[in-house]
Amino acid sequence: MESTLWYPYTQMKQLGELPKMKGGQGVNMHLADGRTLIDGISSWWSVIHGYNHPKLNAALTDQLEQFAHVMLGGITHAPALQLADTLVGITPEGLNHVFFSDSGSIGVEVALKMAIQYWKNKGIHGKTRLVSLKNGYHGDTFKAMEVSDDSDFSHAFSEVLHRGYLLDIPTGGFEASANEIQPAVAALEALLKAKQNELAAFILEPIVQCAGGFHIYAPLYLQAARELCHKYEVLLIFDEVATGFGRTGKLFAAEHARVTPDIMVLGKALTAGYMGHAATLATTEVYNSFLGDDRSKALMHGPTFMANALACSVALKGIQILEEENYLEKISGIEAIIRREFDAIHSDAVTHKRIIGAIGALELKDAAMLNGFKAFAMDQGAWLRPIGNVVYVMPAYIIAEAELVKLIAVIRAWLTRV
Ligand SMILES: Cc1ncc(COP(=O)(O)O)c(C=O)c1O
Repeated sequence: MESTLWYPYTQMKQLGELPKMKGGQGVNMHLADGRTLIDGISSWWSVIHGYNHPKLNAALTDQLEQFAHVMLGGITHAPALQLADTLVGITPEGLNHVFFSDSGSIGVEVALKMAIQYWKNKGIHGKTRLVSLKNGYHGDTFKAMEVSDDSDFSHAFSEVLHRGYLLDIPTGGFEASANEIQPAVAALEALLKAKQNELAAFILEPIVQCAGGFHIYAPLYLQAARELCHKYEVLLIFDEVATGFGRTGKLFAAEHARVTPDIMVLGKALTAGYMGHAATLATTEVYNSFLGDDRSKALMHGPTFMANALACSVALKGIQILEEENYLEKISGIEAIIRREFDAIHSDAVTHKRIIGAIGALELKDAAMLNGFKAFAMDQGAWLRPIGNVVYVMPAYIIAEAELVKLIAVIRAWLTRV
């Protein structure tokens, strides 16, 4: 189809008529044609407080009256300073320094740059390669693609990607015992031991791999990864772009394991879905390696819009709402509803049910079983977009029980047809 606007992940030749958003309120998306849809996936997992939130709107307009943006090179401002302090205060103990950027992918790039340069700055050469997990997804920029599993997101570039090492994720889910995760831990140790002289970092999505199919694994694995990365001197990076800000039932997924990575990336819900922004946090040990009298040790990265004042202001307000309005309780309520409603799904098409926090995913035997599902869901008043053979809900935390029940009923109704 002829279109001046080029859409993401879309074969433009097959682009049909798209629904047009006109307004949003809470979990509702109001379309130009008069229909209202319940957003089941919070705009790619970012709009955690719902659309058009009065407090977030006010935070933005207040900041707008001061200034919208100023470069961060050579000048600073209160929203950036406050957000850095706030993030250090709420993330795992030891992450003491924050570098802002404009999207999750760039936040991951910054993390990888930090990790690679860390070793160089310490005078240790050759530690430039990366380890990650199969099914992982870390973004669409080149280095982020290199640490993501091969998928149709990156196929077109396979000849130019210098991939690192990919390890199997542990089996057995969240509750897996030390015995069950042992093969994955042993494989990690064998790799770290054999390649420690060339490895800069191990990057993973803690607890849940979202875009790669919502695979959930045990906190014990993160603890083992933490120990092994210390032992073999490889940095550990948690990509919490999707899992951060309550999605897995803890404020950050790292908390399930009570470990602090060397570097952590936040994005998406950081700015409550109002605008793109990301934060890469580092420990003092990592940060200190960049200090010196020599400019060549500095982190030579600086997106024009890093620490955008509007983004920082909306992020600060979003975090305040999360804390003041007891969102972790809301999220555990969402988890209970998803569990109850998923229990009532009895379909041969479903091979796995995966639930944690405000995430509920159903893996089907075959992606073709979801052909036509999006249109069906819209006809039923739901905005749901499967990823491959997985249909899932990841709603805003303000969703009411009846709305969530309705979303899952739409999925159940579809499953009775396939
Ligand atoms: C875990 C993870 N990392 C990084 C990204 C990339 O974020 P962005 O789309 O903001 O570049 C995503 C996006 O889905 C993600 O889920």
